[in-house]
Amino acid sequence: MDKKPSVVMIGLGYIGLPTAALIAQNKTYVHGVDINPKVVETINAGNIHIIEPELDVAVANAVKDGYLKADINPVEADTYLIVVPTPFKARNEPDISFVEAATKAILPLLKEDDLYIIESTSPIGTTEKMMDFIYSERPELKDKLNIAYCPERVLPGNVMYELVHNDRVIGGVDEKSTEKALAFYSQFIKGNLHKTNARTAEMCKLVENSSRDVQIAFANELSLICDKANINVWNLIDLANKHPRVNILQPGCGVGGHCIAVDPYFIVADYPMESKIIGKAREINNYKSFWCAEKVQTTKLEFELKHGRKPSIAIMGLAFKPNIDDLRESPAKYIAQKVLQNANNEEYFIVEPNIETHKVFKLTNYEEAVQKADLIVFLVAHDEFKKLNISNKKIVLDFCGISK
Ligand SMILES: NC(=O)c1ccc[n+]([C@@H]2O[C@H](COP(=O)([O-])OP(=O)(O)OC[C@H]3O[C@@H](n4cnc5c(N)ncnc54)[C@H](O)[C@@H]3O)[C@@H](O)[C@H]2O)c1
Repeated sequence: MDKKPSVVMIGLGYIGLPTAALIAQNKTYVHGVDINPKVVETINAGNIHIIEPELDVAVANAVKDGYLKADINPVEADTYLIVVPTPFKARNEPDISFVEAATKAILPLLKEDDLYIIESTSPIGTTEKMMDFIYSERPELKDKLNIAYCPERVLPGNVMYELVHNDRVIGGVDEKSTEKALAFYSQFIKGNLHKTNARTAEMCKLVENSSRDVQIAFANELSLICDKANINVWNLIDLANKHPRVNILQPGCGVGGHCIAVDPYFIVADYPMESKIIGKAREINNYKSFWCAEKVQTTKLEFELKHGRKPSIAIMGLAFKPNIDDLRESPAKYIAQKVLQNANNEEYFIVEPNIETHKVFKLTNYEEAVQKADLIVFLVAHDEFKKLNISNKKIVLDFCGISK
C-alpha cells in the first residue's frame, strides 16, 4: 500500500476482517492489525482464516487492489477501530484487557481530530474509561479527539450483507464525536444510523442479547414445569401464541454461542443487585442443560431396570444452534460431556453432521447412530435430524422440538 491509510482496524477476526474488507471495497485505505502473525500472513496473501460467505472474494480483491494490508503493528491514520475480543474471566466478569492493549498500541499515533471507535462488545463505561486513559497519557489531546462506541449485530453466515444493511447505534462521548462517527459509517452503511451517547450504545448491545436470553429462559422454565405436569410444551406454546399479543420463544437444551450466553454477564457483573431477571435467566438457561444431562441419566437407568441390559445412546448435535458448525459455549457440547462423564460401559454415538472431526468426541454418522441406539437424545434441531424415520421401539428424549 503506497497511500497513507485512512483507517486502522485493530483485530481481524469474524467482525474486524469483514468490516475492513467492506471499508476497503469503498476505496478507502485500510491498515488491518492483528497480533496473530498467521492471520496477517494469510490476509496479505489475499486469503482468509475464517469461514464466512463472500468474504474470500472481498478480501482477495481488497488486497489485490492495494486497499487492504495486514500488519502486526498499527500505523498513523485518521480513524482507529477497535474490534478485539471481550471474553469473560472467572466468576463471569468481563475481560477488557484486549481493548486496553489495542488502545495502548495506537496511543502514540493519535493526533488532533482523529476518530477512535470501539466496536467490541463492552461493559457499560468502557468507552469513557478508554477516553480517560488516552487523555491521561496524552493530555495535550484532551477533548481534541473524537471517541465513540458502535456495536456490531451481524449474523454469522450473512455478515457481508448485514454489515451494510443492518441499522447501527452510534454513541459518542460528546456530540462532536457522535457526528464524526456517524459521518464515517454513513460512507459504507445503508441501514439507518441511530445517534445516542457511548454508555447507551454499550448498554444497547448488551440488552439486545440479554432480551433474547430472558425470553428463552421463560420458554425453558415452561419446559421444566410442563415435564413435571405431563404437558407437551411445544403444543402448549403453539396454543398460547394464538393469543394476538403473546409470542413465547421455543425452549431448547440451554443457550449457547459467544453472544447471548456471554453478554448478559457484562450487565450482571456490574449491576448485580439490579439485574435480577437477567441474572436469573442465565441461571435458568444454564440449569436447563444440567437438567437435560440428568434426564439422560435417569432414562438410562430406567431402561436398564426394565430391560436388564445397558442401552446404547445417540447424542444428536453438538453445535450451539441448528445448522451451524459453531460449538462455542454450546449447551449441547456441555450435555454430551456431562453424559459421557456419567458413562458406565454403555455404548455412545456422538453426532454432529456439521463438523468432520472433533478433538474430544469420536463422531458417528447420524443415520447410523439412530439406527443403532436404543435411546436417542436430540439436543440440536439440525435439518437432517428432522427427516429421520425413527422406529417407535426407540426411546426419544427431544430437548429441541425435533418432532414438533
Ligand atoms: N462474531 C460475532 O458474531 C460478533 C457479533 C457481534 C459482536 N461481536 C464482538 O466483536 C468483538 C470481536 O469479535 P470477533 O468475533 O471478531 O473476535 P475474533 O476472536 O474472531 O477476532 C478478534 C481478533 O483480534 C485479534 N486481537 C486480539 N488482541 C489484539 C490486539 N491487542 N491487537 C490486535 N489484534 C488483536 C485476535 O488475534 C483475533 O484475530 C468481540 O467483542 C465480540 O463480542 C462479535
